[in-house]
Amino acid sequence: MIKLTDIIGDQQPHHLREGLELLFQAKIKRSDVIDLSNSNHEITLTMKDALRTYKRGLMTHPSSDDQFTQESKIEFGSLLLSNKTIIIDSNVYAKWSLKTPDCKHIVIDEVNEKNKNLDTFFHICHQLKNHPSHVFIIGGGIVCDIGAFCCAFLDIPFTLVPTTLLAMIDAAIGGKCGVNFEPYGKNQVGLFASANQVYVDIDFLSTLPPREFRSGLAEAYKHYFIDPNAIAFDDIPQNAVDCNKENILKLIEIKKSIVIKDPREKSLRKTLNFGHTFGHALESLLTPSSNPFLHGESVAWGIVFAQFLSSRISKQDTNYLDNAIKDLLSLNLLTNINWILEHWDSKKLFFYIEQDKKNNQDIQVVLYGKPGELLNNQMTESIKYDEMKEYLSRFHQFLLENKQRFL
Ligand SMILES: NC(=O)c1ccc[n+]([C@@H]2O[C@H](COP(=O)([O-])OP(=O)(O)OC[C@H]3O[C@@H](n4cnc5c(N)ncnc54)[C@H](O)[C@@H]3O)[C@@H](O)[C@H]2O)c1
Ligand SMILES: [Zn+2]
Repeated sequence: MIKLTDIIGDQQPHHLREGLELLFQAKIKRSDVIDLSNSNHEITLTMKDALRTYKRGLMTHPSSDDQFTQESKIEFGSLLLSNKTIIIDSNVYAKWSLKTPDCKHIVIDEVNEKNKNLDTFFHICHQLKNHPSHVFIIGGGIVCDIGAFCCAFLDIPFTLVPTTLLAMIDAAIGGKCGVNFEPYGKNQVGLFASANQVYVDIDFLSTLPPREFRSGLAEAYKHYFIDPNAIAFDDIPQNAVDCNKENILKLIEIKKSIVIKDPREKSLRKTLNFGHTFGHALESLLTPSSNPFLHGESVAWGIVFAQFLSSRISKQDTNYLDNAIKDLLSLNLLTNINWILEHWDSKKLFFYIEQDKKNNQDIQVVLYGKPGELLNNQMTESIKYDEMKEYLSRFHQFLLENKQRFL
């Protein structure tokens, strides 16, 4: 247990950002338990908020009465809203003349990873304070993640209406919500909180730009990899026209069945991080560049890195890597190899990897051999810091040598 007073000394943060900064600077891990007893002074509300949102909540002693077990009801069809508060993505608002009479709209402009941050969170929270009724959140994964975080933080019930493939099959399912916190990386601040309902309307996909659709395919491929018995590779929809209730439901069910068994990511849910160790690091590395990668684009490369590790660690089967590359290329993923090579920075990549999944001197990575078969039958493989640095440099070499395959 780590004493709170050892982390904050006699400081009294007045702003959530300051409280979070103290926890990040102290490099607190998600597995750490914070001892709140014998604090010299009363713990401020701000610090309590920092503790409950840092990496989606730290365990404390005495423990907080946090109960996250709720399961969202998933419904298909289109929604007619009236007299509601709606948080909506500006692109969806512009493209769809939604019949929403008497609704208060909070329109989120410039939806991108740079703006998925605490400023946007505070801006929305401020607007929600005067409208504490049930909120409908309509948009892609970014708007779903931020909107749900605001509602959960303010204890307002909410419904999610995902409008991208990625949000329908992944971001809107399972209760994780939050924002990025620079310079510490992706989704580092947030909560676990399920929507009362998730409303899936496949028609939204008809206006989704093809690049955004492909980004969602990376998560669909991840779901297939985790449970190839639940969906065949050929049933992964290749474009919006291929999407129907059956294949979208199959993909939703894969995630749903995992999060129901392990809502707090103690074990099984970790499999959903497949491809995300390197994927998040690459995404964070490229977010400040003039051509940031989309989440799924980064995850696709993350899956390649994971299979690269599997092939090296198992020393048995390089097909693991080649098969995944072949599949991902057939889904029109693994784009922009030149951009990755131009911006490659092993030190920064390692920094982000360490932030994401650190555990003492090891990095915990989810690795599969073939789809559906965890490597060595283990939920995660421990890789020492030095080994990870070595793998990163060997992967860089692999990309340089195999560049032609990705052009
Ligand atoms: N909470 C989770 O469990 C979870 C899981 C996976 C991903 N995520 C998060 O999801 C985010 C990515 O989500 P995303 O891929 O949906 O991206 P996104 O939210 O950025 O949306 C993609 C783009 O498409 C636009 N858009 C959305 N719906 C549209 C529509 N129907 N028609 C036209 N344009 C539309 C948006 O304005 C945006 O420009 C990442 O931040 C990622 O971390 C969260
Ligand atoms: Zn993801």
